[in-house]
Amino acid sequence: MMKTNTLVSQEAFLEYVLDSMGEMLIVLDTSLHVAYMNDTAKRMLRVRGDTYVGLHFFKDLRALIVPRLNRPTIVEEVLQDGRPRHGIHRKLATGREVLLNVVPLCERGGEQVCGVLITGHDITDLARMERELDLAFSLTLPNSKVEHKLKNTPEFADKFDPATGRITILKVIEDGGYRHVVNALRIFAAMRAQGVTHVIGIDKDVLVQTIIFHDLGKSQPNLKPGDVVDPREVFEDGKLHAYRSAEIAANFYHLPADAVEIIRYHHHGEHQLPESFPWRLRPMFRLFQVIDGLSAAVTRGGVDVDFELHDCTLRVTEVNARPQYNGTWEIDLFTGARHKLE
Ligand SMILES: [Fe+2]
Ligand SMILES: [Fe+2]
Repeated sequence: MMKTNTLVSQEAFLEYVLDSMGEMLIVLDTSLHVAYMNDTAKRMLRVRGDTYVGLHFFKDLRALIVPRLNRPTIVEEVLQDGRPRHGIHRKLATGREVLLNVVPLCERGGEQVCGVLITGHDITDLARMERELDLAFSLTLPNSKVEHKLKNTPEFADKFDPATGRITILKVIEDGGYRHVVNALRIFAAMRAQGVTHVIGIDKDVLVQTIIFHDLGKSQPNLKPGDVVDPREVFEDGKLHAYRSAEIAANFYHLPADAVEIIRYHHHGEHQLPESFPWRLRPMFRLFQVIDGLSAAVTRGGVDVDFELHDCTLRVTEVNARPQYNGTWEIDLFTGARHKLE
C-alpha cells in the first residue's frame, strides 16, 4: 500500500480522514445491519458513540424516511444487482434533506456483493433556497394556468443509439417545462451580466416574455424510464407547438408582437423563415434559439455553460459531465455566422 503519511499509523490516519469528512458515510452488511458510521453520519442521524453497531438500518435506526412505494428499497436493489445508485434525494427523520449515493462493496477482484457504502451530504439549506426562488419566480408568471401548464409538461433525459436512431428514456422530469423556463432565464441572466442586452436588437423584456411563453403549446407523449422509442414517431415536429404557443401568447396573454413572432418561428431554421420575418428581429431570434438549446441541455442534465460577449458576437463554452463533449463556439448575432473554436 502507498505510504500516505509518517505521523500516525495507517489505521489512525484512515479514521482521521473518515471523521473529518463533511459527508456522512455508512457501511451496511448484506442483512442491512450497520457496520460503520463516520462522525458526520452519527451527528446527522443523532447516534451516540458506537451504539449503532449491529442495528438494522431500516427497522432499528429508522433514520431515513423511505417512500412507501419503494419495495424493495434502493439499498436492497444495490445489494441485489450490484449496481451503484447516485443522487438519491431523501429526508431524514430529523427533517434534514440529504442527497445520497449507494455503492456496492465487493471484496477486491470478487463479484460477490458483501455490503453497501452509503455516502450523503446535507442539502437542506440548498433545497430550501431553491423552493424559495421557485416561489418567488412563480409570482412573476402571468397566472396560475401558465404555472400549471409549465409544471405539468414533462421533459425527458434520454440516450440516443446512433445505430438504430432510437432513444432510451432514462429519466422523466415531471416539471420539465418549468425547469426549462427557469434554466433559460438563468442562462439569459448570465449572458446579460456579459452585456448581451446592450446589443442593438436585444430587448430584455421581450426576450423574458418569449422565454416564459415559447413552449406553452407543447404536448408531450406519455413516456416512462426504460421506454425505447423512435423520437421522430413519438415527438411531434417542434414547429407545431411553436405555432400553438404563438397563438396562446398573442390571443390569451396579449404579448408584444415581436415576442409572438419569435415564439411562432422558434423551431424554424434561419433559411426556413418567411420573407415577412423582419431583419430587426433576427439578432433576438438567434439569441433565443441559443438560450433555448442550451437550456434544454442543462434541464436534461450534465451540462454547464459559460459566456463571453465581444461586440455582437457571443462565445459559448459548454462544460459537460463527459469532458469529450466540452466545446467552445461563437455566434455572430448580427450575421448569424457560427463557428467552433478549439
Ligand atoms: Fe419549443
Ligand atoms: Fe424550449
